[in-house]
Amino acid sequence: MKVLVIHGPNLHLLGQRETDIYGETTLKEINDQLKQLAEKNKIKLKIVQSNHEGEIVDLIGKSKESDINAILINPAAYTHTSVAIRDAIAAVKIPTVEVHLSNVYAREEFRHTSLVAPVAHGQITGFGVHSYILGLLAILKLIKK
Ligand code: DQA
Repeated sequence: MKVLVIHGPNLHLLGQRETDIYGETTLKEINDQLKQLAEKNKIKLKIVQSNHEGEIVDLIGKSKESDINAILINPAAYTHTSVAIRDAIAAVKIPTVEVHLSNVYAREEFRHTSLVAPVAHGQITGFGVHSYILGLLAILKLIKK
C-alpha cells in the first residue's frame, strides 16, 4: 500500500509562517509523525511539497502508474483556486483526503470555498498538525476496506 502525501504552496515555511494560525511545528516534524504512523501500519508514503500548481497536477496524474493507492493532500492556497488540481483528482479516481491545519471556514471568506472538496472522499480541517494524522487514519480505513 502506498500513499502519496502532497503539501501545497508555502507549507515548507511551517514553523516560521504565521505561527499564530499554523503553529510552531515544522513540515519535517509533521512528515516524521506521518512516517511513524505509516510504519506502524506497514504502508509506504511518498511525500512531496511543491509551490507549483503544474507540478502537483503532474504528480496526481502520474499516481496511477506510480502504484499509489490513496492521496493525502493539503492543497494550501490552491484549495481555493485550482480547477486543474481538482480535475486531476477527479481524473485519476484515487481516494483522496483533503486536510488543512487551520479551520478554513472560520477564516476569510475566500477560504470558505474548496474546489477540491467535491472530488475528495472527505475533508479534515482545523486540528493543526493532527489534521494530517486524522487524514492518514481516514486513508488507512479507506484502503483497508
Ligand atoms: C491551509 C489553509 C489555506 O487557506 C492556506 O492558503 C494555506 C494553509 C491550512 O492548512 O490551514 O496555505 O491549507
